[in-house]
Amino acid sequence: MIKDLFIKKTLAQLDEEASSNKYGLKRHLGLTNLTLLGIGSVIGAGIFVLTGTAAQMHAGPAIVLSFILSAIGCLLAGLCYAEFASMIPLSGSAYTYGYATMGELFAWIIGWDLVLEYLFATSTVAVGWSGYMLSFLADYGIYIPTSLAQAPFDFDQHGWHVTGAFFNFPAVLIVVLVTILLVVGIKESVRFNNIAVIIKIIIVLLFIGFGISHIHPQNWVPFIPKNTGVWGQYGWSGILTGSGVIFFAYIGFDAVSTTSQEAINPKRDLPLSILFTLLICTILYVGVSFVLTGIVNYKDLNVSAPIALAIDRSGAELKWLSPYIKLGTIAGLSSVIIVTLLGQTRIFFSMAHDGLLWKCFTKTHAKFKTPHYSTLITGFFTALIAGLLPIGLLGELVSIGTLLAFIIVCIGILILRKTDPDAPRAFKTPWVPFVPILGAFVCFIQMLALPADTWLRLFIWMAIGFVIYFGYGRKHSVARKLRKSSKK
Ligand code: ALA
Repeated sequence: MIKDLFIKKTLAQLDEEASSNKYGLKRHLGLTNLTLLGIGSVIGAGIFVLTGTAAQMHAGPAIVLSFILSAIGCLLAGLCYAEFASMIPLSGSAYTYGYATMGELFAWIIGWDLVLEYLFATSTVAVGWSGYMLSFLADYGIYIPTSLAQAPFDFDQHGWHVTGAFFNFPAVLIVVLVTILLVVGIKESVRFNNIAVIIKIIIVLLFIGFGISHIHPQNWVPFIPKNTGVWGQYGWSGILTGSGVIFFAYIGFDAVSTTSQEAINPKRDLPLSILFTLLICTILYVGVSFVLTGIVNYKDLNVSAPIALAIDRSGAELKWLSPYIKLGTIAGLSSVIIVTLLGQTRIFFSMAHDGLLWKCFTKTHAKFKTPHYSTLITGFFTALIAGLLPIGLLGELVSIGTLLAFIIVCIGILILRKTDPDAPRAFKTPWVPFVPILGAFVCFIQMLALPADTWLRLFIWMAIGFVIYFGYGRKHSVARKLRKSSKK
């Protein structure tokens, strides 16, 4: 029956699930840990790898404005995420919110879309990690053959081609290590993450603090290079395209909402940690991109390690900083991989609990209390993707998947205000409907800025999702079974 496709979970049902904590996850994350998890998941390949390319190809020094523009879209969506997170403290993030507002089919679409975001983002960052690791090892005379450190396939304007490499071994290795860490326990993972995040923030601050005195203001002239006549190559259209590319740098603040069932006080701390994460990251990104484009002329920035390049360009005085920057970046990227992989396993966990995915995803380990099957299966696919595909293709897929999820969350807030206007909300999105509508609009514009190939891949991914839903999820849906038994 068509109606069944839109079966919803009521807020009361979700609240009961959250408070019963019947899934056996432990609650031990406070506001600080949650914010650190957010920052851990956000600051990564976006700022450390993609900023240079985006400045050189699209925005020039005005990449700073791209960062601000992208932050505005994220903040608007983040305000909507925060209201949901304060009302529905369950670990499925936007997937669970979709179940409450738009019904099962939409929940599935979002859930499947989130898989695209999290699974592929983890792989993307793993590939970035591999690049920095190779560069770090090379500084000490250790060289890994390219055939073992590169994807066997690449995609550019001429289409697909083989690179001659076997697979990206370091990228696979880091995913395997993180998977093991996550199976052993969230507490251990959080501890490692906290250390990595602190290192990452110190590195960023060191870069801004020491770099600032090596800025050559003439590198900022012109601040907005003249458009070449091609859309997206400098000028205001370049700033817009740049914001679509570096949008990747903000992805991950929503990962906080996937750990709701492990938060001590989710209704208060989830929204706060989401907003803190966004605020801190925006300030750091603006600072880094200012200093970066001030030290190195944007024309020279199309490199895989722009921050390291800027340090090298600062002369002998800052040479000592170079290995720390690389090591800090490696630690920083590791923490993104941890939190993103963690988020993915929790989404699978929620979907499987609802009967939409296979039961094995719901099992928690007797000793470690972690969803170990979910983690191992996710780790396997993440490693496979990271080993085989190039970073550019992965990054764009992640962006389009995430933007779609953000749009659905913004629309979800509009719906929830109509369907459940009086439900208690620890945090309320301000200026509704203005904020959600503008949020959805800004995200849609950024989606439009992405290439047609990426749209095609999104459709293919969704088609696979429909096959799984209609082949398995629909038949095993717990919500549908409950409805049927209550009718009897
Ligand atoms: N925001 C994350 C990064 O930049 C995904 O690596």
